[in-house]
Amino acid sequence: MADKKDLSYLSAKESRRITKENRKITKEYEKQISRKDVPESEYLTKMHNDKNILEIDNLHTYFFTDQGVVRSVDGVSFDVPRGATIGVVGESGCGKSVTSLSVMRLLQRPIGQIVDGEIRFKVDDDKAYDIAKMPIAEMQHIRGKEISMIFQEPMTTLNPVFKIGRQLDEVFELHDKETKAEDRRAKSIELLEMVGIANAEGVYDMYPHELSGGMRQRVVIAMALACQPKLIIADEPTTALDVTIQAQILDIFRQLKEKINSSIMLITHDLGVIAEMADFVVVMYAGRIVEKGTLEDIFLHPAHPYTIGLMDSKPSVNKDVDRLYSIPGKVPNPINMPDYCYFRDRCEKCLDKCDGEYPPLIKISDTHYVACYRSEDKEVKE
Ligand SMILES: Nc1ncnc2c1ncn2[C@@H]1O[C@H](COP(=O)(O)OP(=O)(O)O)[C@@H](O)[C@H]1O
Ligand code: SF4
Ligand SMILES: [Mg+2]
Repeated sequence: MADKKDLSYLSAKESRRITKENRKITKEYEKQISRKDVPESEYLTKMHNDKNILEIDNLHTYFFTDQGVVRSVDGVSFDVPRGATIGVVGESGCGKSVTSLSVMRLLQRPIGQIVDGEIRFKVDDDKAYDIAKMPIAEMQHIRGKEISMIFQEPMTTLNPVFKIGRQLDEVFELHDKETKAEDRRAKSIELLEMVGIANAEGVYDMYPHELSGGMRQRVVIAMALACQPKLIIADEPTTALDVTIQAQILDIFRQLKEKINSSIMLITHDLGVIAEMADFVVVMYAGRIVEKGTLEDIFLHPAHPYTIGLMDSKPSVNKDVDRLYSIPGKVPNPINMPDYCYFRDRCEKCLDKCDGEYPPLIKISDTHYVACYRSEDKEVKE
């Protein structure tokens, strides 16, 4: 019976039915988010803790595909305190990018939609917006200026037909009305120097293809910093780079954080990067958070069997990166998630109880949370 639900058994008729139904659902979402002249009061909110710049609260982001609904992010909650670096870690497909694209409201539409939850963002001292409820058009005031994103592949951000300088100047033109046209060039060159580009004036007049991958990523970081955003989301910013360049880029992040005091949400599958950079760590598995805490909580006292597995499969110097995460078994099908712990089929530490419903997120210290029945005896009550 269970096999019948398998994707390969989806008949053409069934697929057509799903497509039709999806269209109906996504049309409603699109109608809502494409509205014009929406009063600010609709998306004004209050931060739960004033020290945070971002509070992701019970976020659900789904993709309405022809095969069925992909629950890419299914009830994710975590905070980004001001000035802190949050590392989000988990293997490929666990929902890291979808979480960040939800914050930027850059999901593939119409199939990708935020269906529930809040994304509270502190705009200034007495104002906060719920990004999840903002109409898409309003996001242009937030994106690039208040929150900027650095993607894994710099060419997703850079336009191949324009010179670097023009693309940087344009960021000021769009988001920084105070900088006069004649001052933009100097500001752009200053930024290029800030991210460690030696020949900044020369690079200003080059096309993206004339630069190496590492140099392009520096340019993208410069663009992301142009308006001194409160939050920088870096999605696998060093994955495409070789180890030496990776170390240099991480250095730039560290220095910049001190200079402009932005918060950073650093997404990676690389625990080494997390260990070097993060203050807090969020571990994701199959669209949910299985554990979160301070860097010390996660690295010195990992509690979830998945996190423990990640720690054991951590590569040492010069080990082949492709061999990361050698935890046996595979992640459940995202369209047909089980109703028990998603990690159970790979877990070597199962209890009888693990056949029951998905475990709640248990608080085991003031900073440390874990979604696993094995930690129930360590629970601290509020
Ligand atoms: N545009 C899309 N259409 C359908 N499914 C998607 C889309 N983007 C992401 N997904 C699905 O969402 C899940 C999470 O993806 P993603 O956030 O990209 O993972 P990662 O943690 O590697 O960044 C995956 O199962 C992926 O297949
Ligand atoms: S709840 Fe059970 S199956 Fe899930 S990770 Fe914990 S011990 Fe393993
Ligand atoms: Mg990703």
